[in-house]
Amino acid sequence: VFEDSQTASKAIAKEIAKLIKVKQSQKQPCVLGLATGSSPKGLYAELVRLHKEEGLSFKNVVTFNLDEYYPMEPDSVNSYVRFMKTLLFDQVDILKENCHIPDGTLSKADIADYCSRYEAKIEALGGIDLQILGIGGNGHIGFNESGSLQNSKTRLVALDHITRVAASKDFAGLVNTPKTAITLGVKKIMEAKRVILMAWGEAKSAIIRASVEGQITNQVPASFLQEHNNATFVLDKGAASKLT
Ligand code: F6R
Repeated sequence: VFEDSQTASKAIAKEIAKLIKVKQSQKQPCVLGLATGSSPKGLYAELVRLHKEEGLSFKNVVTFNLDEYYPMEPDSVNSYVRFMKTLLFDQVDILKENCHIPDGTLSKADIADYCSRYEAKIEALGGIDLQILGIGGNGHIGFNESGSLQNSKTRLVALDHITRVAASKDFAGLVNTPKTAITLGVKKIMEAKRVILMAWGEAKSAIIRASVEGQITNQVPASFLQEHNNATFVLDKGAASKLT
């Protein structure tokens, strides 16, 4: 638990930088699982600063984003492709071919195959070294909404009403907000060697309590992380305020 999200984000960036450097010294790729949304913005800003001011290189970094709305054009203002390019990829020396984000332009018939290949790419690299997560008000991780199974695969999902309401401010109203998305499944998230979930603000405190201290249940997918052997919830005081 940190005083504020800025200090917390810096601490996470420091851990990521250390991992990237260890992997560099071993001549290994550093495989990062990344999230979008408001929670990781400070983290990405700090990683950009470490690149620009302290020479941190991303040349050995391979990234897999958790999710993308479906359908979604990559150059649309609300695409997660645009989000990642603006806040991170275009500002560091990561290789374009090393950045993976689920494709929101596929035809429906191709999605299942595409999702298996997305997972196979992760497996071919030896799995995710460090998975960054935010958390939805309903406990979703990625877009694994309430009811998602612990062994769920990467797939097309229907977004919960609460998730769409949260997103609707970016889409100028609920009617314009996508109803579906492609998400990395819970299984691959749980297979990551290390997981860091971040949450800021009192609005997240109830779901943080349910995830950390409540029963493990697929109604709160973040609660599955209680069974992960190297997962950390990084919180500010507000998000931690309901923990006992
Ligand atoms: C985004 C994602 C989502 C968000 C969650 C929290 O890639 O996977 O699970 O992390 O909805 O969103 P914010 O950070 O905007 O509160």
